[in-house]
Amino acid sequence: THSKEPHQLKWSFAGPFGTYDLQQLQRGLKVYTNVCSACHSLKYIAFRNLEALGYSEAQVKSFAAEYTIEGGPDDAGDMFDRPGIPADYFPSPYPNAEAAAFANGGAAPPDLSLMAKARAAHRGFPRFVFDIFTMYAEGGPDYIAALLTGYEEAPHDVQVTEGTYYNPYFLAGNALAMAPPLTDGIVTYDDGTPETVQQYAKDVSAFLMWTAEPHLTERKSLGFKVIIFLLIFSGLLYLTKKAVWSRVD
Ligand code: HEM
Repeated sequence: THSKEPHQLKWSFAGPFGTYDLQQLQRGLKVYTNVCSACHSLKYIAFRNLEALGYSEAQVKSFAAEYTIEGGPDDAGDMFDRPGIPADYFPSPYPNAEAAAFANGGAAPPDLSLMAKARAAHRGFPRFVFDIFTMYAEGGPDYIAALLTGYEEAPHDVQVTEGTYYNPYFLAGNALAMAPPLTDGIVTYDDGTPETVQQYAKDVSAFLMWTAEPHLTERKSLGFKVIIFLLIFSGLLYLTKKAVWSRVD
């Protein structure tokens, strides 16, 4: 086979002390909004969740208002559309699953909320043993970034089905129904970050790591405090044990 392993990129959220880079997550949101959201939903993320990326309540409100949400039937039983509010979730661009599949040659674009966890493969012995201690969770974003940047000309011995695009990083085959979504300059950054496919892929993958695990930073810092506490507590228990049993030998 021609399948390739994703490159291991450097992520700010890697390791026991990793934290999200909010600037990067904001850029990733921009890539998602301008490119990926044309096909992929983010159904577990509400607009109000974006406050965690550093946006104000007012910014979230106006961001949400740019979306149109199906409001469901009104008193007369008619469907009505309304502007989004912070409590709404990122909608699917398609009215239903059939339309999503039909628009993409039969392969509906999957929801991206949990994709970074869904594609985080365990790395097998012996690496998974170390991965527990380093809190390895970068497999998913590495995969998404590799997939987005990994399209190439199909080798001569590979037959690519009409309507699919060769990509040796794709886990489920040689080619997938998603055309290369990114091109240099397709999204404007206003913080001076390079507007390249490589950079977009990295930023949107970091953003999707956040959507899949929004509390990663808190979890890691709490975990660290718990370990410190347990170490001190073990020491105290040991000293207590010594004192209580000191007259027995
Ligand atoms: C599948 C990400 C833009 C259509 C996927 C998958 C990911 C992904 C991670 C799953 C791959 C797997 O199953 O391992 C993204 C990101 C985008 C983006 C991050 C923006 C940068 C788009 C756009 C379209 C699209 C704009 C439509 C024009 C699809 C389709 C699939 C897919 C149809 C299913 C492919 C298959 O299973 O054959 N995408 N996507 N994507 N995406 Fe996208």
